[in-house]
Amino acid sequence: PALARGYHEKVISHYEKPRNVGSLPKNAPDVGTGLVGAPACGDVMKLQIRVDDNGIISDVKFKTFGCGSAIASSSYMTERVKGLSLEDAEKIKNTEIAKELCLPPVKLHCSMLAEDAIRSAIRDYRTKRSQLSNPKKSGF
Ligand code: FES
Ligand code: FES
Repeated sequence: PALARGYHEKVISHYEKPRNVGSLPKNAPDVGTGLVGAPACGDVMKLQIRVDDNGIISDVKFKTFGCGSAIASSSYMTERVKGLSLEDAEKIKNTEIAKELCLPPVKLHCSMLAEDAIRSAIRDYRTKRSQLSNPKKSGF
């Protein structure tokens, strides 16, 4: 049992006890929301970030309506990006997630959802910020 602890259990726990499940207030000015779907299977992932004044991700929540690998991928992603700058968070590749979670090739698209979702959340946050600083352009 002592030998069995460690990496394998860390991976399994993302499947059995996903971290950071939930929602952040979509309309808050410091929250970015990414909502993406996988055409291959129809699974959907929502990932939200809260960004502090220094551009650091201070909170992350997800809701995934999809397979176990997609849920584990989003759980992994939330832990991975918390405390990162937006620039560092958008560099995370699905291949890293797939490797960490030991996803088989047929499940690669599940980890792709998590990569798409964090990028989409970052994009949403930046769009929101630029609209807030240029209210005339966005028609507010
Ligand atoms: Fe269990 Fe890879 S961590 S199979
Ligand atoms: Fe499509 Fe996992 S089977 S996201």
